[in-house]
Amino acid sequence: MRIRRAATLVSTFENDKTVLHNFLRKEIFECTPRVLEILARLADWIPLEDALAGLPGDPAANAEILKTLISRDIVLLEGSPAAERDQRYRDHWRWGAVAGFYHFSLRDLEFIDAERKLEQLREYKAEGDSPPLLTSNDGLDVVEPLPPVNLDDPFYDILYRRRSRREYASKPISLQALGNCLFAGKGLKEIGDAGEFGRLPLTMTPSGGARNPFELYVWARAVEGLAPGFYHYSSLEHTLGLVRDDDGAPPPSRLLGKQEWTNGAAAVVFLCATFERSAWKYRQALAYRVVLMEVGAILQNVQLAATHAGIASSPTGALAETEIERLLGLEEIEQATLFAIVLGAGHE
Ligand SMILES: Cc1cc2nc3c(=O)[nH]c(=O)nc-3n(C[C@H](O)[C@H](O)[C@H](O)COP(=O)(O)O)c2cc1C
Repeated sequence: MRIRRAATLVSTFENDKTVLHNFLRKEIFECTPRVLEILARLADWIPLEDALAGLPGDPAANAEILKTLISRDIVLLEGSPAAERDQRYRDHWRWGAVAGFYHFSLRDLEFIDAERKLEQLREYKAEGDSPPLLTSNDGLDVVEPLPPVNLDDPFYDILYRRRSRREYASKPISLQALGNCLFAGKGLKEIGDAGEFGRLPLTMTPSGGARNPFELYVWARAVEGLAPGFYHYSSLEHTLGLVRDDDGAPPPSRLLGKQEWTNGAAAVVFLCATFERSAWKYRQALAYRVVLMEVGAILQNVQLAATHAGIASSPTGALAETEIERLLGLEEIEQATLFAIVLGAGHE
C-alpha cells in the first residue's frame, strides 16, 4: 500500500492555531508542526510502512497522526476514489494552489436569505458607515468638463436603459429574444487564423488570447416554442442542444443563492468556463483571474440585448455550483459555472 499527500493542501494561521485547508474538499484541519513534517515527506508515492521511518517523536503517536490524516483524505491511499479525484486535479488544474485555493474554496457556499441579509447589513452599518461609492474631482487643480453624451443616439439609449430587473411578468419570453441574448453574449463572428497554433474563435465579447473559455447554458422555463429543459448554446452553429429536461429540477432560488426573485425566471443563462482552453496557453495563475473578468463582458452584452428586446434581466454570482453542474453535465475540476443571468418577461 502506497501513500502520498493530497495536492490540494494550503496551510494558514488562524489566531493561535495552524490550520490545513484541503480546498478541493473544503475541509479544515487543525494541525501541528509534526503534521506538516509528516506531510512534507509525502510529496510522492511511498510505501505506507516507510512514511514515518526516522521521524523524531513517539512512533505510536506519529502513526496515530498518519492514520488520522489518511482518514481525512489529507494523505491518500493509492487507488482510492479520493486519490483518483486528486489525480484529476493534478492533471487538469494548471494554475496551482494560489488560484486553486480561491476557486475551490468559494464553491457551494451557504447563502443567507434576503431577510437575514438585511439584518446583517444593519449590523455592518452599526459598526460604521459604508465608504463613499463615488469619487469627485473636486480639489484637483485641473478639471475639464466633458461634452454631454447624446442619449437620443440609439446606441447610448440602450446602454442607458440597461438595468437589473428582478420582477418578471408571468408570461414567456420569445425564442428570438433568448437567441439574441445568447448571440450577444457569446455568438461566433468568425474564426481567425493563428497560423501554426490553429484557429481562434472571434466572438461578440472580448476574450483573453481569444481562448473563449466560456460556454453558455440555458435553463429554459418559459420560452415560446422551446420545451422546458437545460440546453447548451452552440455558438458554432447558433443552436440550442437539449442536455436534459427539467423534470424534478429544484426551484431556481435553490440553485441561485436563495434569492426568491429568481423563481419568476423565464430562463436562466449560466456562464460556464472550460479552464483548459485558457490554461493550455496561459499557465500562470493570473489566467484564472482573466477568466473571471470575461464574465463582465458577456454579462453586459446579454443585458444590453435583453434591454433591446424589451425583456428583464438580472445577474447573479450566488450559485450552487455543484448542483448546477450536475444538471448541466459538466466536469467538476475542468469546468465550472461562474455566473448566471436571469431573464424574464418585463412588465408592460
Ligand atoms: C458581478 C455582479 C454580481 C451580481 N450579483 C448579484 C446577485 O447575486 N443578486 C442580485 O440581485 N444582483 C446581483 N448583481 C446586480 C447588481 O446588484 C446591480 O448591477 C446593481 O445593483 C446596479 O444596478 P443596475 O444593474 O440596475 O445598474 C450583480 C451584478 C454584478 C455586476
